[in-house]
Amino acid sequence: GAGPWEECFEAAVQLALRAGQIIRKALTEEKHVSTKTSAADLVTETDHLVENLIISELRKRFPSHRFIAEEAAASGAKCVLTHSPTWIIDPIDGTCNFVHRFPTVAVSIGFAVHQELEFGVIYHCTEERLYTGRRGRGAFCNSQRLQVSRETDLSKALVLTEIGPKRDPATLKLFLSNMERLLHAKAHGVRVIGSSTLALCHLASGAADAYYQFGLHCWDLAAATVIIREAGGIVMDTSGGPLDLMSCRVVAAGTREMAMLIAQALQTINYGRDDEK
Ligand code: IPD
Repeated sequence: GAGPWEECFEAAVQLALRAGQIIRKALTEEKHVSTKTSAADLVTETDHLVENLIISELRKRFPSHRFIAEEAAASGAKCVLTHSPTWIIDPIDGTCNFVHRFPTVAVSIGFAVHQELEFGVIYHCTEERLYTGRRGRGAFCNSQRLQVSRETDLSKALVLTEIGPKRDPATLKLFLSNMERLLHAKAHGVRVIGSSTLALCHLASGAADAYYQFGLHCWDLAAATVIIREAGGIVMDTSGGPLDLMSCRVVAAGTREMAMLIAQALQTINYGRDDEK
């Protein structure tokens, strides 16, 4: 039957589709672009518009719930995950893609209760693919059930990553040397598509074998984590320990063996924590 958070899940789906329609239309129009933490960390008026739409609609329906959202955080709102029902929102994941009209852009809405992720909804705006995962109830793309890859051998793996916003020489050196280590280990390929959430959805779909990143945020990770776990995959910290949603780092894979191989190959890039900003 319908779980306790059914109404919330339905609201998330409706809002992701509505937001996606706005983003799809705005993609080809003129944009006002601003920067945040670095020259490569972009935001547009559509990010703000969509975030405000999603939060105001959810607040009307669920007035006691809490919110963590990318643009609110950029304006100084604290990222704290309490025991209250909490929505974790990225209005446009892949803002740089959006700015360049590169059609890999998503809306991501995650939902946690008692600090446990209950469901995630990620909408690929241009391909109109809706990824959903609900704890204990599987993961889907539209109506198709998702299943991760069972690959355990890094030398047979397609690996996904994202660059992250920091571009100082020391960070770039570590980023490139991590990629070099995976290529030395003979990974079949490394891909950077410009959207953490959609890369993680490819992993959930079995279209790639692993994902890692330093510098992503809780709103890049919350919804995708439920989807990957419900598709049978592993989401962990880059140390090999349990995932920490606020730690700005992640390794995910279809199998624990693969995730551990990636974790062991990586050098840490320090991005601080979402809950200490
Ligand atoms: C970013 C994108 C980017 C990744 C960053 C994310 P945004 O999200 O997913 O590919 O490298 O870590 O924060 O800023 O476009 O929502």
